[in-house]
Amino acid sequence: MLIAGAGGMLGQDLMTAFSRDEVFEYTKSQLDITAIDAVQKVVHTDHPDLIINAAAYTNVDGCESDFDLAYRVNALGPRNLAVAANQIGAAIVHISTDYVFPGNATSPYLEHDATGPLSVYGKSKLAGEQLIASLCSRHYIVRTAWLYGLHGKNFVRTMLQIGQKESTVRVVNDQLGSPTYTPDLAAGIAQLVRKPAYGIYHLTNQGTCTWYEFAKAIFEEANLSVHVEPITTADLNRPAHRPAYSVLDNFMWRLEGFAPLRHYRDALKSYIQDYNLGGTI
Ligand SMILES: NC(=O)c1ccc[n+]([C@@H]2O[C@H](COP(=O)([O-])OP(=O)(O)OC[C@H]3O[C@@H](n4cnc5c(N)ncnc54)[C@H](OP(=O)(O)O)[C@@H]3O)[C@@H](O)[C@H]2O)c1
Repeated sequence: MLIAGAGGMLGQDLMTAFSRDEVFEYTKSQLDITAIDAVQKVVHTDHPDLIINAAAYTNVDGCESDFDLAYRVNALGPRNLAVAANQIGAAIVHISTDYVFPGNATSPYLEHDATGPLSVYGKSKLAGEQLIASLCSRHYIVRTAWLYGLHGKNFVRTMLQIGQKESTVRVVNDQLGSPTYTPDLAAGIAQLVRKPAYGIYHLTNQGTCTWYEFAKAIFEEANLSVHVEPITTADLNRPAHRPAYSVLDNFMWRLEGFAPLRHYRDALKSYIQDYNLGGTI
């Protein structure tokens, strides 16, 4: 098995979730997925049975100002991996996002609902999905949302750091989604690839909240006394448009007979415990 983007937040938890004898891990400095010749060389040398693409350009606002980089990493990178996987008969897992949807739904998005990304990030990720699906028949496309984990900069860590210094924080209350803990997602992916049940999957922790509600939950679980003030997305005036409604129905996951990932509140409790054990709060 080969993991590209192994140095990322999800990438590091994927390495823990797969306890195989032979895992080839590549961080960005070891394998740049946009370099087709390098991808060809590595894949044909290692000859993995499975490739997981955890690499991406994930700076959503940054994608708005660097359109070429967004498409190079989020579309051409997955293409390079899909072509190589197909050449050697390997399966591929590609991680995608709730941002492929426009966010104007009123009920959770199913895997085969019409997409309609609002941002360059979402458009480039959708282009990546399409290249993966058309170039490697043995593909799993796993769309997830609102990730946080121990190995990267994320909303929960930011709130915990703010909670050490500030008594008030303003947080957006008009985007709804499902915060997802990367070890839970990584364990789900490890389960999924045991079956040749290829296709598109939505995979998130259960339950939904706004960022404002999530911030309140974080401070509650961490016993931090911080006043959270609700604001609107418009108040923040960020470069990239974000979907207001990001809830992904884990429909294909359920149809396939897998147990749902735990509720986001339970996952948050685990994160805070693990975070505290790391001595960072
Ligand atoms: N974070 C979220 O809330 C979220 C939500 C939904 C879906 N996703 C998707 O989940 C996946 C994992 O996200 P994450 O949060 O773990 O992101 P992350 O921490 O930013 O990890 C992405 C990794 O990819 C690396 N990378 C960037 N360009 C590369 C290239 N050309 N070649 C090889 N590696 C490259 C990055 O390296 P550098 O850091 O050195 O650039 C980083 O280590 C991504 O596909 C993302 O689109 C994330």
